[in-house]
Amino acid sequence: MDYFSYLRGELRVEDVSIQDIVDKHGTPAYVYSGRTILEHYRKLRDAFAGAGATQAPLICYSVKANSNLSILKLMKDEGSGFDVVSGGELYRALKVGADPKKIVFAGVGKNDEEITYALEQGILLFNVESEEELANIDRIAGKIGKKAPIALRVNPDVDPQTHTYISTGKKETKFGVDLIRAKRILQSALELKNIAVSGLHVHIGSQITKVDPYVETMQRISAFLPEIAKLGVKIEWLDIGGGFGIWYKDKLARPAKEIAASILPMLQKMGCKVLLEPGRFIVGNAGVLVTRVLYVKESGDKKFVICDAGMGVRVCDVVELQLAPEALRDPGGREGREGRDGAGNDGRPAPERKNRFFFVDIGLGTARIRRFHSWGELTC
Ligand SMILES: Cc1ncc(COP(=O)(O)O)c(C=O)c1O
Repeated sequence: MDYFSYLRGELRVEDVSIQDIVDKHGTPAYVYSGRTILEHYRKLRDAFAGAGATQAPLICYSVKANSNLSILKLMKDEGSGFDVVSGGELYRALKVGADPKKIVFAGVGKNDEEITYALEQGILLFNVESEEELANIDRIAGKIGKKAPIALRVNPDVDPQTHTYISTGKKETKFGVDLIRAKRILQSALELKNIAVSGLHVHIGSQITKVDPYVETMQRISAFLPEIAKLGVKIEWLDIGGGFGIWYKDKLARPAKEIAASILPMLQKMGCKVLLEPGRFIVGNAGVLVTRVLYVKESGDKKFVICDAGMGVRVCDVVELQLAPEALRDPGGREGREGRDGAGNDGRPAPERKNRFFFVDIGLGTARIRRFHSWGELTC
């Protein structure tokens, strides 16, 4: 669901004409729909409403999906927390007034400065990815007289059935630690003076369009919790990650409420506070990039459209072709494969010069994948 529509041939975002925005602010311009973003957030919040043992789940928007400050502010005002993967993202979340107690810090490579900064800010959880990282957090926390709350990221060895490059739940990936090691790490973490073990974290991948991978993951976690409880490890927070797929074509992804319904009984039984880290689901189809056509040129057998959004603002052309699942691409080769050369190689007539625009649907998400969804023209 989104709030972009054509009215009498003119693209509008909510009640505003894109033409007006462009007239006022120029191009290239990213245009986002706050209403779309909020609606996605509320959908997820409502779907998982009954999941937490003692409170509603905490949704921590995954900042990597889009770290625009206005979007972060919108999310914060709606009650969202944040999932960050760098000191910079943490800084941005705090800058919009986020409550540190609603921030989780993930990522396999946190450096000393970032760990120190996060400790000083008093974040909710470090999502820890390795034994060495755990030891380092313990060391730094000891040095500055803090106790670090951590969730260990486990790797459940579940296939998320998405593109390999955005799969993180299988044991051959670098994410999390396998359940056997996790048990040992958690047990030894109890001995670390500056560590408070308070959570378990799992995130099996992105653009997951099926329910089964979530079910399988939760089954493994449900079986794992009693095993670690026997060792004295109590889990207050269960962070089930993000990964909720969105509709690119053929309406592939299962609705959030169906995913939620399939795992809610297990979540309730586990009795933990529940945390979610959605990114793509929130912002994936909530914006467009408007870029002006500067020139149309022909060379060899091809026609190129040169526009004013280069690779710096439209990374999709470079990134998408390497990372995006087939399902993310439009049929017919509309991706604009050659950076600033937008389109025209798929047999369709290219737009002409002067006041013509491309509208690039920026399907933001993991790995900054953006989708060159469609292009249209504004006749000025
Ligand atoms: C640990 C973690 N949490 C959450 C996300 C957000 O994933 P998505 O945008 O698919 O919801 C990612 C994406 O890479 C991630 O690595």
